Amino acid sequence: MSRKIVVTSALPYANGPIHIGHLVEYLQTDIWVRFQKANGNKCLYFCADDTHGTPVMIRARAEGIEPKELIKRVHAEHIRDFENFHIEFDNYYSTHSEENRQFAELIFNRLVEKGSIVKGEIEQAYCDSCGMFLPDRFIRGACPKCKSEDQYGDSCDSCGATYQPTELIKPACATCGKEPVRKKSIHYFFRLADYQKKLKELMASGYTGKSVSSKLDEWFSAGLKDWDISRDGPYFGFKIPGEEDKFFYVWLDAPIGYMASCKNYCDKNGLEFEKVWNGEEYELYHFIGKDIMYFHALFWPAMLMGSGFKIAKRLFVHGFLTVNGEKMSKSKGTFIKAETYAKHLDPEFLRYYYASKLSNGVGDIDLSLDDFVARVNSDLVGKLANLVSRSVPMLTGKLDGMLGATGTDGKELLKQFVAAKEQIINDYENLEYASVIRQIAAMADIANKYVETNRPWDSIKTDAEKTRTTLTTVLNAVKILAIYLKPVLPVFVGKIEKILGVEALTFADVETVLENKKINEYIRLAERVDKDKVQAMLEESKNEPEQKPQVIGDEPLETECTINDFKKVDLRVAKVIKAEKVEGADKLLHLELDIGGITKNVFAGIAKAYEPEVLVGKLVICVANLQPRKMKFGLSEGMILAGGPGGKEIFILGIDSGAKPGQRIH
Ligand code: 2FM
Ligand code: ZN
Repeated sequence: MSRKIVVTSALPYANGPIHIGHLVEYLQTDIWVRFQKANGNKCLYFCADDTHGTPVMIRARAEGIEPKELIKRVHAEHIRDFENFHIEFDNYYSTHSEENRQFAELIFNRLVEKGSIVKGEIEQAYCDSCGMFLPDRFIRGACPKCKSEDQYGDSCDSCGATYQPTELIKPACATCGKEPVRKKSIHYFFRLADYQKKLKELMASGYTGKSVSSKLDEWFSAGLKDWDISRDGPYFGFKIPGEEDKFFYVWLDAPIGYMASCKNYCDKNGLEFEKVWNGEEYELYHFIGKDIMYFHALFWPAMLMGSGFKIAKRLFVHGFLTVNGEKMSKSKGTFIKAETYAKHLDPEFLRYYYASKLSNGVGDIDLSLDDFVARVNSDLVGKLANLVSRSVPMLTGKLDGMLGATGTDGKELLKQFVAAKEQIINDYENLEYASVIRQIAAMADIANKYVETNRPWDSIKTDAEKTRTTLTTVLNAVKILAIYLKPVLPVFVGKIEKILGVEALTFADVETVLENKKINEYIRLAERVDKDKVQAMLEESKNEPEQKPQVIGDEPLETECTINDFKKVDLRVAKVIKAEKVEGADKLLHLELDIGGITKNVFAGIAKAYEPEVLVGKLVICVANLQPRKMKFGLSEGMILAGGPGGKEIFILGIDSGAKPGQRIH
C-alpha cells in the first residue's frame, strides 16, 4: 500500500542568496521526495523563506529599503535558483505570512497557558546610536583569547574560542562602530528543561540517527537551559500578543513556517491541514544540516509537545560541504552562488555529483572540482549518455527506429539489472545515494561491455535483425538505468523518456520490457564538462561583491549605485549671489545661487565653518536637480557640495574662477 509523506527542508534565510552549500540539503531532500513519488508514494515537499530577525532588518536598512521589499526580492531569487536546480517544492512559502503569525501565536499562547513560557529580566548589549539591542553576531571586537581583531561577539574565527560579547576587547556595534552599552529588559523564556524526560523518550524512539543522538546525550548531560524566545523592537518579526514592542525571536517562528507552508498548500488544494500535518495518515520528515540540530532535536519537538502537535517521525541530518577539501572561501572563488554555478555549468551535474557523495550520516561531503569534472565526464557522459548515443541513432537511422525482441543473453543482462531494484529502493529510502550511483555506474559498465561484445556497428553491415536485438537489449537496459537515476537526474531522464516514447517512468516500470515498438529521434543527453568553465565560475565567484553591508569608518556604505544612477545627479557651477545667517538655526546659511540665469535658494549646513560674507561672489558646485525640500525656514531647492567631519571642519568644494555659472560638471 502506498504511503503518504510530508517532507520539509530547513528554511533558508531571506537575507542572502542560495549557494552550493545550501544545495546539499535541498538536493538531498529533492532526490528523496522524487524517489518517493517515483516509487508510488504520495509525497508533499514544503519549504519557505526564513524572513525574520536582525540580519534581514540590517540588510534592508543597508540597502535603504523596507524588510518587506527585501524579502520579496529574495523570495523571487530563491525560487529562481531552486527551479534552476530542479528542486520541486509542492509549496515554497514565507514565514512572513498570516498563517505563520496565527500558528506562532497559537503555539505561544498554548505554551504560556501550560506554564512552559515565563518572563524574566536580562541585560544585553545595546547600541545607543542605532537604537537597538545587539545580537552577538552584531558586536565586533578583538578576541579575548588570541586578540585577533574584528571578531564576532560569540566566537573567534581565528582561534575558535567561544565567549560572551562582554568579554570582547573594544566591543563595537557592527553596523555603526559605536561602543555598545548594557541595558536591561524583560524577555520571555521557554522552559526547555520541563521537557527533558519526553525528549529523551523521543530520542530513544528513533527520531534521530546514532551520531545525532550521541550529541544529544552530551546536551542532556550538560542540562537543558531556558530558551529566550523574545526580542525587543526594533525587530522584523511578529509582535508578541499583548506586547507593544516585543517580538518573537526568529527561531521561534521559523520551524512553525513548515506548518504555515503546509497550511497554505492545503488551503489552495482543498486538503485538510489537520489531517495532512497533524494526522496519523501522513508520515512527517524533516531534513536539516548538523548546525541546527539543537533547534530541531530539542526546541522544536518540545514546542510541539507542549502545544499538542504531532512530531516528525524522523529528523534527517546531513553534514557540511567543503570544496577541494576546505571550507568554502570567497578569496578562492569557492563560495559559489547557485546563480553563478547555473550560469556556467549544468545543474544536473551537481545533482549527480552530490548524489555520488551522499550517504546517511553527518559526515561532511567534499566537492573536489577535478573529481567533479572527471566523474561527470567519465560516468554521466562517457558511460550513461554514451549508451544512448551509440544505440539510438543506429536504430532510428538504419532500422526504422523499431525495437525488436531481446535475445537470450539480453534477457540475462536485463534480469541482472531488474534484480538490483530492491537494493536501490532501500538505498534511496535510507539516503544511501552514493551506493545507488555506484550500482548504476557498475550496471552502465556491464551494458557498455555488452555493446562492445556484440559490436552492432559491425553486425549492421551483415545482420540487421541481430543488430536490432542487440539495440533492443541496450535500450531496455537504458530504460532500467533511467528509472534508477530519475530522482537524481529528472531532465536527463526526461530526454530518455522522450526518445523511448514512454510516459513518465516509475519504479513500477522496471520489469516491463519495451519490444516491437517505435522509438523517437535521438536527443543529445549531456555535454562534457570543460575545465575552463569551472575556472570561469571560480573567477566570477571571486569577483562578486560581498553580501554583507560594508561599513567604512563609522558609516555604513550606501547601496551600490550604477553609473546611470550617478548620471542622474546634475552638478552645475553656481555663483553665490547672497549669503545670510538663518535665525533660529545656528548651523544653517541661506544662500542664493545663480546657476546660469536661474536663481535657486539653498539652505546649507555650513554656518559653523563659513561667515556668510566670505561666500558672496564665490563659485561652488551645486546639485541642481535635487527635489525641492520644504524646510522650517523656507524651500531648499538644491544642495552645494561640501564635506568634512562637521562643525568648523566643513569645506565647500570650490571651483576655478574661470568656470561659468550653469556649466555642467561631468
Ligand atoms: O539556519 C538557517 O539557515 C535557518 N534559516 C534554518 C531555519 S529551519 C526552520 F526551523 F525553519
Ligand atoms: Zn550601532
